[in-house]
Amino acid sequence: MRRRELLKGAAAMGAAIALNRKTAFASAASSAADSRIEVLLNEPVGTISPAVYGHFTEMLGAVVYYGIWVGENSKIPNTGGMRKAVIEKMRQIKAPMVRWPGGCFADSYDWTDGIGPTAKRPERGGFWRGEPNSFGTPEFMRFCRLSGAEPYFAANVRSLSALAFDHWIEYCNAPADHSSLGRQRADDGSREPYNVKYWGVGNESWGCGGNLTPAEYSEEFRKFTTWTPGYGEPLKFIGVGPGSEDLDWTEQFCRATFSGKRGIHPKSVYGWSIHHYTWDLARGRTHDWDAAKGDALKFDVQDWYEVFREGGRVEHIMQSNWDVLGEYDPDHHIKLVVDEYGSWYKPGSELDPSHTLGQQITMRDALLTAQTLDIFNRHAEKMGIGACAQLINCLNSLFLSHEDKFIVTPNFFVFDMYQSHQGANSIRTEFSAPQVSYQRDGQPASFWGLNGSASIKGKSLTLTVVNPHATEQREAEVVIRTGSISSVEIAVLKNADIHAHNTFDHPDAVAAASEKVAASGGAVRYAFAPASVTKLSITLA
Ligand code: AHR
Repeated sequence: MRRRELLKGAAAMGAAIALNRKTAFASAASSAADSRIEVLLNEPVGTISPAVYGHFTEMLGAVVYYGIWVGENSKIPNTGGMRKAVIEKMRQIKAPMVRWPGGCFADSYDWTDGIGPTAKRPERGGFWRGEPNSFGTPEFMRFCRLSGAEPYFAANVRSLSALAFDHWIEYCNAPADHSSLGRQRADDGSREPYNVKYWGVGNESWGCGGNLTPAEYSEEFRKFTTWTPGYGEPLKFIGVGPGSEDLDWTEQFCRATFSGKRGIHPKSVYGWSIHHYTWDLARGRTHDWDAAKGDALKFDVQDWYEVFREGGRVEHIMQSNWDVLGEYDPDHHIKLVVDEYGSWYKPGSELDPSHTLGQQITMRDALLTAQTLDIFNRHAEKMGIGACAQLINCLNSLFLSHEDKFIVTPNFFVFDMYQSHQGANSIRTEFSAPQVSYQRDGQPASFWGLNGSASIKGKSLTLTVVNPHATEQREAEVVIRTGSISSVEIAVLKNADIHAHNTFDHPDAVAAASEKVAASGGAVRYAFAPASVTKLSITLA
């Protein structure tokens, strides 16, 4: 009986899809736009910091070991031990920044274990698993240099002292002839200082990073960041922001850190870290960390939409933290650092058991990632750094590898398409489109129909757009207010199957493609495919 009902439901859904496709086709044929996107060239939001397009690599599972680091003697093509394919793809997307070594791992890591001759480095238990320490600070810095990314270190606050933090900075930034640690770095291969600017002071200090109260964390933060020698580098400290939407953490930290006799000036803090994972797909049935997770590959249309609803909450989290910070830092010296974000599903889709927290990445995750990057762009004036968690063989990854096999995921194409936003000026853009309406556990639900962001660099305008509708295209009139279009190039990531993903056997099942479209004057008409991410590269006259 239930099965018959399910089949009936499926048949009805199939008919609805066919009808939707027809409607979409009919509307395209009669060329009646159902949506409008207006780019307001005269309303700049702020420069998009390139670091917003950063990545996160934790000493976890197969992220660093065998993902990035295969070792110098490996048969896998490598440059100085780093998997060549990763380096090449990082360069292709102009990866601006990488955060390391954690994550929760950071607060268990003694950085001195990962320097000096490899053979003499100790093996440790490690937070996630055994830690051989063959990849340490010198290797991470080599990885950054090879891939063209700036380093962002996360320091251990839970189990190391402020002095150990000072020493790590000294090892990285002191001149080679200045001190033993500077000389040690030179012996490890770099006479030139690493000039590391970005330092995260702990990680999730309200949880795995020490279970501290905001007042306790504030005390540590002030100790770690006061009179810390940078050796000529203007150090940019990043404080640990709240778990989830716990604004009380932000409020109490700010009060304890910035006000009163011992208060420090917000000018001395670069950023405020926010983590937001899209993991709770239970639609309110439970909020249990394990039970509420969805499946990376087996999902229905409701689960598809739920990811965008959940992922979109980051915008509210960003805004509410910004508002609290503003009470103590009205000039907004402190920027938002969203240094862990992405989907987090239950285990089972990882490509190898060694991929701790590994999962497959489908079109759904690509749209989630694009949605997140568009949010960052729309808040360019607030955003300092973003870091997608995590680069390879883990949660919201761009790459998957095992032994000599290597593939890019749909997320990679999003970063590739969006790279032209880096360093460009974000422009206010209005999206008007029919809402996505669907049944959410029998209740009518709806959310935005088209969304995205625009930015400009000289005469090059980048407009990126997500159409989250699983089956309907959106025919939009794109208007560049006060601008005239010389040419438009389109790159689109789409697939008829919302579950589409790449595998070692089918590495090119999902890939971005280019399209042509004619435009004249200040407007262009374009049909945004269902379940797609699209970039319009517009050259202005
Ligand atoms: O990215 C996996 C883990 O998620 C990180 O170690 C931690 O910071 C977060 O809770």
